[in-house]
Amino acid sequence: MILVTGATGQLGTAVVRQLLARTSAAQIAVLARDPGRAAGLEQQGVSVRPGEYADPGSLARAMKGVDRVLLIASSEFQQRVQQHQNVIDAARAAGVELFGFTSRSLRDMAAPGNPAMRDYAETEARIGASGLPAVIFRNALYLDTLPVSLGGPAVFSTGIRVPAGPGAVAYALRRELGEATANAMLGPPGGDRTYVLAAPRASTFDDVARALSEISGSPVAYTPVSDGDFVVHAIGQGIPEPMARYLVGFFADVRDHQLDETSTDLQELLGRAPASLKDGLAELFTPPGRG
Ligand SMILES: NC(=O)c1ccc[n+]([C@@H]2O[C@H](COP(=O)([O-])OP(=O)(O)OC[C@H]3O[C@@H](n4cnc5c(N)ncnc54)[C@H](OP(=O)(O)O)[C@@H]3O)[C@@H](O)[C@H]2O)c1
Repeated sequence: MILVTGATGQLGTAVVRQLLARTSAAQIAVLARDPGRAAGLEQQGVSVRPGEYADPGSLARAMKGVDRVLLIASSEFQQRVQQHQNVIDAARAAGVELFGFTSRSLRDMAAPGNPAMRDYAETEARIGASGLPAVIFRNALYLDTLPVSLGGPAVFSTGIRVPAGPGAVAYALRRELGEATANAMLGPPGGDRTYVLAAPRASTFDDVARALSEISGSPVAYTPVSDGDFVVHAIGQGIPEPMARYLVGFFADVRDHQLDETSTDLQELLGRAPASLKDGLAELFTPPGRG
């Protein structure tokens, strides 16, 4: 049986959807800190196990009868290394045959511009030290983050104004990352492996602007701006100031070429080419007049 943590979140939902398509619900368990949010999965026959990363006892209970664990990285940035350690320890005590972790694809994991990214290298090191048979998924930046970071549908009138310079990102759609991760977690156990789940080609913001122009039929321009101008512009578009300042860290990583590593691993695990930049953006953005 495979236990998926974070299954009430967006990536976890995509993972479980693919597991359900490929294996029996009786082989799937999910960890949920609010089991009510997983009621739909329970109705489909999935075993819902109450649990919280910060509560080792709940993790030990959740791992009963489990032989594989997928740890979806915690969204609680301040505490997440210890939270991840708790899940690693519980999986080790349960003697699982395969441990998966959703990490991040960064060219230099030890020195990201965005301090929140350091937790991924630390967690990978702790998994290595645990001796668990492990598969690491170094996920690209979600393409799904663009509607927020570009200021929503207003981008079609304002254009793209972000502090990314000529930097590029090998974006991936969250739903395809979930699908690929589920496929890998169902593979044969043993043999540690690190996948870089990213597009086969990195896209600049000029590429994003061109794709949005084609989707909308009207020109969308990319204007590189300074960090300060971005914060002012983002707040003007309704992005809360703390989020705008947090996004500055992401764009610093884009400028520094931290997020442009390409790979064919996503294609390998999907068994097909991932969605193109234009097709992915068309899923995420509704051009004016078509809502
Ligand atoms: N690659 C990228 O571009 C990117 C972007 C953003 C985030 N991430 C990382 O990838 C992770 C998954 O992404 P996502 O989009 O699925 O995020 P999400 O929708 O926020 O889902 C996070 C999941 O983790 C669970 N969780 C958080 N803290 C927990 C705790 N203390 N104990 C137990 N469960 C906990 C949440 O439970 P609840 O449903 O109860 O809240 C939720 O199920 C994020 O947590 C973040 O670390 C990656």
